[in-house]
Amino acid sequence: MVSRRGFLAGLAVVPLAGCAARSGAPTPGSATNASATRPLPIPPLAASSVGADGVRRFTLDIQQGTSEILPGKRTATWGYNGAILGPTLRAERHESVAFTIRNSLPEPTTVHWHGMHVPARCDGGPHQTIAVGGTWEPAWTIDQQAAMLWYHPHPHGATEKHVYRGLSGLFFVDDETTDTLDLPKEYGVDDIPLVIQDRRFTASGALDESDPTDVGLLGDTIVVNGIAGAHLDVRTDRVRLRVLNGSSGRIYNLAFDDHRAFQLIGTDGGLLTAPTTLSNIQVSPGERVEIVVELRSDERIMLRSLPIEQRRNIDRAAAFGFDDTFDILQLRAGKLEQSAPVPDSLTTIPALAAPGTKPDYTFELKWFMINGRQMDMNRIDMTIPVDSTQVWSVRNNDNWPHNFHVHDVQFQVVDIDGQAPPPALAGWKDTLYTEPQFTYRLAMRFAQHSDPTYPYMFHCHLLLHEDHGMMGQFLVLAPGQQAAPMRMDMPGMDMPGMGSGTTGNKPGHHG
Ligand code: C2O
Ligand code: CU
Ligand code: CU
Repeated sequence: MVSRRGFLAGLAVVPLAGCAARSGAPTPGSATNASATRPLPIPPLAASSVGADGVRRFTLDIQQGTSEILPGKRTATWGYNGAILGPTLRAERHESVAFTIRNSLPEPTTVHWHGMHVPARCDGGPHQTIAVGGTWEPAWTIDQQAAMLWYHPHPHGATEKHVYRGLSGLFFVDDETTDTLDLPKEYGVDDIPLVIQDRRFTASGALDESDPTDVGLLGDTIVVNGIAGAHLDVRTDRVRLRVLNGSSGRIYNLAFDDHRAFQLIGTDGGLLTAPTTLSNIQVSPGERVEIVVELRSDERIMLRSLPIEQRRNIDRAAAFGFDDTFDILQLRAGKLEQSAPVPDSLTTIPALAAPGTKPDYTFELKWFMINGRQMDMNRIDMTIPVDSTQVWSVRNNDNWPHNFHVHDVQFQVVDIDGQAPPPALAGWKDTLYTEPQFTYRLAMRFAQHSDPTYPYMFHCHLLLHEDHGMMGQFLVLAPGQQAAPMRMDMPGMDMPGMGSGTTGNKPGHHG
């Protein structure tokens, strides 16, 4: 039998020789971070200035630095305006925003606005490379419902390492609904962003980039907002946690150690129509969830990750981290102030398509491919008319976990194998976990932005899979517009680095 890895090596994918049995994950059932020792850092809100033209301007410098992810250890990391992660960008719907972004890294990178409805030339995908020492100045007007989005690098073939080294930031969009609803909304006080990631370290404290599994780098240390072993001091009896799974390949199944129920109020693209009560929720790489949890004065609870439940047909679940249990963040209540209960009704979401609508496109996820093909920067996979509503059918036809992310839009899950989605998947999504052998029908609208030159991406957001070509691209065209895609000279198109260590050893990194 030809191994999958061997077969893919023949397709110019760097072979990941010898890692199958050597996952970086801890032994099943183990838990780290048992002694929560340091207060959770809250990413600062980014400074911005609004000029006479009404445009809100931000500046980002992408830089190298040193972080104390582990107490007492110095780790070389990358960050936006700092050593790791980035400031939280915040803007209101209908505001115009503009950025001056400088790349002070030793490698080219990009800045992608994950979840943002944005003109294709500003999307920050692999076509918008910022050269070493270069500057990029995207600008657009925000027009989407309030949500927690995020920004991260998207360089072709090197996204996993750039994110792993620390490049991730949050982008809060506010609107009239979230401005007026009585939800916890004091940033860093009762409205807490949590960027959850997994990392591995060498003996000297450097980030260990070796030995990705078939789902990518799996760490044995859970890092929240840039540190391991965090605790959060809670001051109100309800706290809103806005969670981003910023990991490469690890999927979390979030729950509290006493199995208490919480309310899910929002997903990737904003609020649900109504809160839904759950005691655990799964979050795959790139996905976000917003939950509200209630505490009593003086108690301590632990946010944990439990073994993954959605694992039908998953091959080697243990090697993919599916059996792992982790402590993530301890919540320490003091004397708590009372807060208002979560409103019964949060927002309205008009349905984009009826169940059973015939799909415009179908996508089969398998190996490192979508519909049997790997990403080619110079191949446009589809052209889509602007202002059209699309129904896409996505099937994970594999025994690996995958998810599916689409740029520019928030989509709705119309049905899953013909059934209505569960409440947790009934809101706006831009990234969706796909369990093997299920078919997910998605509806989305490509409004307003057309561009004959710059494409948008769709891809698996397990970053190793994305880097290995599990991605495609489409143009959104205005009526009568002819496709004129840009061409990228990609020397060799050889998907550099993953598993071979070549990217990680480039001069300048860790030094
Ligand atoms: Cu979060 Cu194409 O990316
Ligand atoms: Cu994206
Ligand atoms: Cu995948």
